[in-house]
Amino acid sequence: EKAGYKHFMLKEINEQPRAIRDTTLGRISLDTGKVFLQEMQITAEDFRNASQITIAACGTSWHAGLAGKFMIERLARLPVEVDYASEYRYRDPIADPRAIGLLITQSGETADTIAAQRELIAKGSKTLAICNVVGAAVTREAQGTITTNAGPEIGVASTKAFTAQLTALFVFALHLAQVRGTISSDESKQLVEELSRIPGKVEEILRSVDDQCCQLAKSFSTARDFLFLGRGIHYPIALEGALKLKEISYIHAEGYPAGEMKHGPNALIDETLPVVCIATKDPNDPSSVLKYEKTLSNIQEVTARSGRVIAIAIEGDDTISQLVEHTIHIPQAPELLLPVLEVVPLQLLAYHIAVRRGCDVDQPRNLAKSVTVE
Ligand code: M6R
Repeated sequence: EKAGYKHFMLKEINEQPRAIRDTTLGRISLDTGKVFLQEMQITAEDFRNASQITIAACGTSWHAGLAGKFMIERLARLPVEVDYASEYRYRDPIADPRAIGLLITQSGETADTIAAQRELIAKGSKTLAICNVVGAAVTREAQGTITTNAGPEIGVASTKAFTAQLTALFVFALHLAQVRGTISSDESKQLVEELSRIPGKVEEILRSVDDQCCQLAKSFSTARDFLFLGRGIHYPIALEGALKLKEISYIHAEGYPAGEMKHGPNALIDETLPVVCIATKDPNDPSSVLKYEKTLSNIQEVTARSGRVIAIAIEGDDTISQLVEHTIHIPQAPELLLPVLEVVPLQLLAYHIAVRRGCDVDQPRNLAKSVTVE
């Protein structure tokens, strides 16, 4: 049932090209650039009149939501709030009937996420679910569902469900943008084409970085702490890299926005601290280039203090490889799609470190696959 893989997690990491492809299936047209969602009770009119999107989710799904905020705000020019579902209902949230609630959940059975959904509904919002399990609790109360077609995820650490969620969020952001008229048809077509190339690029990463991550695990599996840094849409991926490592290897890890380092965490850096820096850029996107340059100087601050940097960079980026000890290269993609590629080496790194430490990768201690209590 593990199809020859040693663990479900590794099998599921390797299933990502298919999971991503299946999540776009029947939803995008390469000819027209148009995006279609399943039929739902939320109308185009509701999307046009929406005051904001309120995302609630937990854990990895919350990280997908944080990345989704960048996609939706950028493409559909609609404000997005992202909450931990476990916090949402305790702060008497200000919701209005024009806000659309978006619940992101692999299982669709997470008690906190269901509670947040009920709070949203009670305040008069319509809710939409991004869910991997057809017919799950969250989808039964939602006015619409975008199913991630990742297939059953057995490993407690979420991998293919996460990249499928990012894909669904990208598709949703494009749909919103088309309905709201905030995107040209040329741009739509280009982004849909780029989206269709992502599964192939993930395949390429799986082939090219697995050995390297295995080697890196040898050098770093005894570290006591890890830092993960990223800016903008790459920051949620830093959080996700840290969560993967924490939950399966039991190494303490933190994700930080790169620019916040000088406001405190720089004090932690010494020669024993591995720092994973996401330093990718989309050369066609001026804000991405600017962010990249700032991240470069954050990396220099780490190396100047003898921190041991592992960078995630775009193929052919020699500036980074000359600056740091280790660079993992990934293919180029538009800024909003880079997260799907960046997370793959972080999953593999966490996996190989956990295996070296002799941890139970598929069933880490103290954790359950779906958390059905609040
Ligand atoms: O099923 P859900 O997506 O609602 O689950 C949310 C979290 O419990 C889940 O993502 C958890 O953080 C994973 N173990 C992370 O790998």
